[in-house]
Amino acid sequence: MSEKKPHLNLVVIGHIDHGKSTTMGRLLYEVGAIDPRVIQQYEEEAKKLGRESFKYAWVLDRLKEERERGITIDLGFYKFETKKYFFTLIDAPGHRDFVKNMITGASQADCAVLVVSAKEGEFEAGISPAGQTREHVFLAKTMGVDQLIVAINKMDTVNYSKERYEEIKNQLSRLLRMVGYKVEEIHFIPISAWEGVNIAKRSPDKTPWYNGPSLYEAFDDFKEPPRPVDKPLRIPIQDVYSIKGVGTVPVGRVETGVLRVGDKVIINPPKAVGEVKSIETHHTPIPEAIPGDNIGFNVKGVEKSQIRRGDVVGPVNNPPTVVDEFIGRIFVLFHPTAIAAGYTPVLHIHTATVPVTFEELLQKLDPRTGSVAEEKPQYIKQGDSAIVRFKPRKPVVVEKYSEFPPLGRFAVRDSGRTIAAGVVIDVRKAEGY
Ligand code: GTP
Ligand code: MG
Repeated sequence: MSEKKPHLNLVVIGHIDHGKSTTMGRLLYEVGAIDPRVIQQYEEEAKKLGRESFKYAWVLDRLKEERERGITIDLGFYKFETKKYFFTLIDAPGHRDFVKNMITGASQADCAVLVVSAKEGEFEAGISPAGQTREHVFLAKTMGVDQLIVAINKMDTVNYSKERYEEIKNQLSRLLRMVGYKVEEIHFIPISAWEGVNIAKRSPDKTPWYNGPSLYEAFDDFKEPPRPVDKPLRIPIQDVYSIKGVGTVPVGRVETGVLRVGDKVIINPPKAVGEVKSIETHHTPIPEAIPGDNIGFNVKGVEKSQIRRGDVVGPVNNPPTVVDEFIGRIFVLFHPTAIAAGYTPVLHIHTATVPVTFEELLQKLDPRTGSVAEEKPQYIKQGDSAIVRFKPRKPVVVEKYSEFPPLGRFAVRDSGRTIAAGVVIDVRKAEGY
């Protein structure tokens, strides 16, 4: 792996069973990022279970398992490179229960591949109001994933029909535009993960009517996102390990600022203070880490039991902001009835999850123009945009979107459904911080 290429985190999103894992497994295989023997082994295992068609998906699903078992400083994400970039791949399961992972996954992603099945009925299920094609697109945009590629998969099931492709492209364009994407800048690539069409190489034999790039080629059209090295350090913690002979090792992605060996850091909300002894990325020790780096680092003076997922690392002279309340601008994605003050679902922000109360509905906005439609509304409903004062029920780090974008966007969820997503426009610091 070349360390000189810029690094991008890529999340793969889309409705359940649309072929996310298969597509990325196939891609990794075709570009040589996976040993063919590994695929062969999966093929045999899958055959035994009568599920041969899952062999590529298993490459990623197996890794997911490994990630959960992981005890070393390995971040477990898959890596591959293109001509221009070095990618870390995050595969988000499409099942509804996993939208939570999707939220934390996407909050670390610079760019996304949206996999959409062209199969009769499958595309329609994904784009329906309850479908995850819609939900993921919406969340990805809210969580700041501004760059997107659309892979229209399972084209083999519709005979590589140009008409079906156009129909799907048009419907998706409408959705993407509504959410705020610049559709002109998005590649819509007809693929078959199963037959290996337009994955690593172009396949004019199957799709003579398509003259855009293959999926792999399209990755090089992503732009390098800004790396806010001048801002104060912020690292939301994903996991904490206690490693024999090393000590406490928090793992996470640097969102802003620079972390150097020797730095004194504070971890909030617990106010744990320690000194950075070593930093690693993908098993390689490094002297400093910059925004976008997925790292594990050993911090002396902090016990594993003091800190956990959702806490945030910062410099002692500019600690991460623990809030008492915050003001958010949200869009209500789904709610069966109406939301009034007092409603207490769950807040998902960076890697943290805590109960949060809609304390006061301040303004209802016109979703098209953003101008105020109603002051102090009694209720807000599905499809509404609003400014809301929120009160987290436990201490949590929340930053203004304008200052720390990755720590200033959030989703609220209830009973396994995403209710709303938005950005933080103001914060009120909790007492004692
Ligand atoms: P979740 O992780 O559960 O959300 O699913 P996923 O989106 O990762 O889908 P996965 O890759 O597991 O594929 C689901 C099913 O679709 C499997 O049976 C695949 O073999 C099949 N499949 C994937 N890609 C294609 C394709 O290009 N053509 C056809 N015909 N089937 C495909
Ligand atoms: Mg999958």
